[in-house]
Amino acid sequence: GRFVLNRSASPASAAERAQALQDLHFGSAFTDHMVHARWTRAAGWQDHAVIPYAPVTLSPAAAVLHYAQEVFEGIKAYRHADGTVWTFRPRYNAVRMNASARRMALPELPEEDFIASLVDLVRVEHLWVPEGAGESLYLRPFAFASEPFLGVRASEVVDYYVIASPAGSYFPHGLEPLSIWVTTGYHRAGRGGTGAAKTGGNYASSLLPQQEAYSQGCDQVCFLDDVTRSSVEELGGMNIMVVNADGTVRTPRLTGTILEGSTRSAIMTLLREEGRPVVEETITLAGLLEDIRDGQVSEVFACGTAAVVVPIGRLAGEDFEVTIAGSQVSRQVYERLTGIQYGTREDTHGWMYRL
Ligand code: COI
Repeated sequence: GRFVLNRSASPASAAERAQALQDLHFGSAFTDHMVHARWTRAAGWQDHAVIPYAPVTLSPAAAVLHYAQEVFEGIKAYRHADGTVWTFRPRYNAVRMNASARRMALPELPEEDFIASLVDLVRVEHLWVPEGAGESLYLRPFAFASEPFLGVRASEVVDYYVIASPAGSYFPHGLEPLSIWVTTGYHRAGRGGTGAAKTGGNYASSLLPQQEAYSQGCDQVCFLDDVTRSSVEELGGMNIMVVNADGTVRTPRLTGTILEGSTRSAIMTLLREEGRPVVEETITLAGLLEDIRDGQVSEVFACGTAAVVVPIGRLAGEDFEVTIAGSQVSRQVYERLTGIQYGTREDTHGWMYRL
């Protein structure tokens, strides 16, 4: 591999691992090792290695801590019934991380190295890939500005890591329908901003409106565009799709302020394949509420790598609240997508990549 295991961690015992793999949720358990490489302006990418999972030592002046020059990715490793381990469209994430990196003035990582980093980490950590239904090893590649310098300019030292986290469902209630709070006071992204980049700042700015959502008894916040303040963009950590009563599926078009989801893209392909029209268009909140009330919209659902596909049962905001009963299309597309990911359905698109 490109990323050589240079120091072994004293790994968790089989009993400790079994304990950690029990009752999985999202994002709180981590494996024994991680990937690291360092970039400097002078020397490029160097020191590719798999090293023990451990705290990262940073100068308090590291630029990321002050100016948030950072990008990240989310991708999963799935265990198939025959024991082999696969991931889903890693090149999609490699390309997207580099697009995010360009926007954040970070160096690009060669696609082959991105993919090698997943392969080399999962080879070392294969015992951590869970085998329960809906479970996976969530991989989190990220890169950040580590140069100790307080001037505001692109860092000349950047660290890349991949950590791995055995994961069950993102939401504590599994695949139960979500309640969504549509915030009008906050926007996620503006024209020319960083909305299309997978960078920590977008998620940082979602936290306060997400708290607003929790305080309204909702699971996720939904953002409107900042120009017209009328069209639906995305949720705090996932994309949104709407199913019309006539079977057409709609999702907000990519305007530069929306994160281009890997799951969003795969779902559009799967739905089109079964003959469903899928359109990317402007979806106004007012129009959506009217269509839900008139019965023209039968389902709304959320999709993302971490979340997978989850029906939305309720949309609420300052002056409205509607419920949506349907979940048939989202359940169907969940089955199709996860069938491919877990190897129980044929992968006709060549999406799966053996780790
Ligand atoms: C993912 O779906 O993988 C993400 O990166 C979103 C994050 C909010 C968990």
